[in-house]
Amino acid sequence: MKITIIGTGYVGLVTGACLAELGNDVFCLDLDENKIALLNSGGIPIHEPGLEEVVARNVAAGRLHFSTDVGASVAHGVLQFIAVGTPPDEDGSADLQYVLAAARNIGRHMTGFKVIVDKSTVPVGTADRVSAAVREEIAASGATASFSVVSNPEFLKEGAAVDDFMRPDRIVLGHDGSAEGLRARDLMKNLYKPFNRNHERTFWMDVRSAEFTKYAANAMLATRISFMNELANLADKVGVDIEAVRHGIGSDPRIGHSFLYAGAGYGGSCFPKDVQALERTACQFDQELLILRAVEAVNDRQKLVLGRKVVASFGEDLAGRHFAVWGLAFKPNTDDMREAPARVLLRELIDRGATVAVYDPVAMAEAKRVLSLDFNAAELARIEFAASSMGALEQADALIIVTEWKAFRSPDFDQIKARLKQAIVFDGRNLFEPEQMAANGIEYHGIGRSV
Ligand code: UGA
Repeated sequence: MKITIIGTGYVGLVTGACLAELGNDVFCLDLDENKIALLNSGGIPIHEPGLEEVVARNVAAGRLHFSTDVGASVAHGVLQFIAVGTPPDEDGSADLQYVLAAARNIGRHMTGFKVIVDKSTVPVGTADRVSAAVREEIAASGATASFSVVSNPEFLKEGAAVDDFMRPDRIVLGHDGSAEGLRARDLMKNLYKPFNRNHERTFWMDVRSAEFTKYAANAMLATRISFMNELANLADKVGVDIEAVRHGIGSDPRIGHSFLYAGAGYGGSCFPKDVQALERTACQFDQELLILRAVEAVNDRQKLVLGRKVVASFGEDLAGRHFAVWGLAFKPNTDDMREAPARVLLRELIDRGATVAVYDPVAMAEAKRVLSLDFNAAELARIEFAASSMGALEQADALIIVTEWKAFRSPDFDQIKARLKQAIVFDGRNLFEPEQMAANGIEYHGIGRSV
């Protein structure tokens, strides 16, 4: 099938590359010339395991193209995926300017029938606004063209995006019941046929319910995390091991094991933004989502938890103290630092007068870029970008772990002790067992593990 993907961010690039991998002929459009030049020269703008190979393979096979040419891109695909960003507006609601600009571009250049697929995470009612924008442009151009807008939210996770896309546990599709909607449904069915071979994974619903499903999924996952973080903080006070509790409750199939890991708070470009956007949607309808307000507040507080633990051990004034920080990306297997808990920790350590040596297996370049925006020159001078995890430890008063990279899971504890000034570890992702650390002679502070 001929497909156009508008936007080459995480979702757009992964969708485009994976749909090409299935044998489709895919055009990826982006207005950022540097990005398209990079993609055309064989590079990819993000760190995502496996993606570079899929892109290279499909470019070589002539099934995947990158372009800044709006007219040619719109002309190419009968399916037009909108996969542009929906960043938070000042009030937390999703900013739809890029989605609507993409819709207008499609409307302006289209001839014949197009299926416009909303892949971006968009609030309820966006498909109607996309339809109106396209209709306006068609009317202005005087072309004869018909279309249908389909909602097809994406559930891939950063760091596992290719795998998530190629092995979906469900495909959510919303269409209206019109003749064009039914035609769109047949085309989408065809597109996703390879994923439905053994059993049907597609859930068809009305467009608004599909739009809402995406927010409901992310809000539910964020709720589970904040719930466990809140319990972990109590566990610390009452002498309970939250990891034992996690096993104890997760084995109930009604609860399940996923997304119950207490830690330093959730980050990334999705949960914080989507929880806020859903709250804003509620506000616009004179409703208040009390649970989600708490989920957000608990998460904001949780990002401070490592700083609080450091202060409890070293005091409010950290001048003259030096800390090693392992993990800067918001989660492993990505270099993404959007809303990363490490940024909140670093702000607190620097504000309290400390110096730090930071290390991340993949996000060092991104960290240099992001931290140079977060901190002024004098503050930046107190942040050392270490060349290795062990190198970051030299003469540090303690090690603080913020991201659970695999490379941090089985370190040489003797080396850690030898390099640190004091054998103290604050672990924001509960990578180790308190007994194991005690046996290694290391003072250990996990999250909810003060048994
Ligand atoms: C999330 C969803 O998991 C995807 O299904 C969705 O498609 C995506 O948002 C999106 O809307 O685009 P992502 O943000 O990439 O994916 O990463 P997650 O693996 O969900 O992790 C989010 C944050 O939650 C991370 O900071 C992670 O450390 C934290 N987390 C996750 C916990 O603190 N505890 C857990 O048990 C799980």
